[in-house]
Amino acid sequence: MMAARPPDDATLGALLAKIERMRGFLITSYKEPCLRRRLAVRMRARGVHTFGAYAAILDRIPEEYDLLLDALTINVTKFFRNPETYAVLRERVLPELAGRRRAVAVWSAGCASGEEPYSLAILFAEQAARQGTPGARSHVRIDATDLDPGALEVLKRAEYQAPAVEEVPRALLARWFGPGPPYRLDPAITRLVHPIRHDLTGEPPPQPPYDLIVCRNVVIYFDRPTQERLFQKFFDALVPGGFLLLGKVETLFGPVRGKFLLEEPRERLFRRP
Ligand SMILES: C[S@@+](CC[C@H](N)C(=O)[O-])C[C@H]1O[C@@H](n2cnc3c(N)ncnc32)[C@H](O)[C@@H]1O
Repeated sequence: MMAARPPDDATLGALLAKIERMRGFLITSYKEPCLRRRLAVRMRARGVHTFGAYAAILDRIPEEYDLLLDALTINVTKFFRNPETYAVLRERVLPELAGRRRAVAVWSAGCASGEEPYSLAILFAEQAARQGTPGARSHVRIDATDLDPGALEVLKRAEYQAPAVEEVPRALLARWFGPGPPYRLDPAITRLVHPIRHDLTGEPPPQPPYDLIVCRNVVIYFDRPTQERLFQKFFDALVPGGFLLLGKVETLFGPVRGKFLLEEPRERLFRRP
């Protein structure tokens, strides 16, 4: 026997359609349980119990759209999150990219408040120093994109509290950050990173082609068709031989899976042939 659906379900569809219309943002790309949880948080905050009543709040108080977006975008991140993943990048990916005789383009997609793209920038700066060509670091461009403008503001300030930097090896902390807290990043690092507000569900990649696309702990919130479309976009946006890195609990599926080579299964590192 099918479980009875809650009576408010019809108005959920209407509410989501309204948000898409008003904001041009594909909210229906998110997994439904995730959407329901986030909507419940905002509805509680506004003291309403039905999706219809919440739609009326959006009409009356347009700032509520931003608060909902804020609830939907979970910005948890830190520098060198999953250090073993960064070790694979350092040992397997960067030496090869650094050997390419042209500027290297990287995309940190869903970069939150900047810890991920700045960690990548630090790796590239270290690689250039190891090669004895510190000037080479300026040949890297890291596009750092996120839907959440508040997170990008933090990225632009480039100042971080102690918990954000706890995985940063001490030598790197001393070399690339000012004394803290807050720990301020060296401009030699920040200048490699270009913040761009960007919606992964609806917009084309910002400045393809890329040598490396890092998209970690983001696609997990999207439904399956959205993920498949995004993986195809990533494939098309990579140069032949380019790398795609997903989060530790994420993986490729759909027709595009067979097009990528699996470079390092445990770290979810793939490669366009
Ligand atoms: C959990 S954080 C991941 C941060 C970083 N990649 C990491 O792994 O540490 C997820 C980020 O995805 C962003 N995000 C969610 N939906 C998005 C969308 N449609 N387009 C772009 N970014 C999105 C959120 O704003 C949030 O900053």
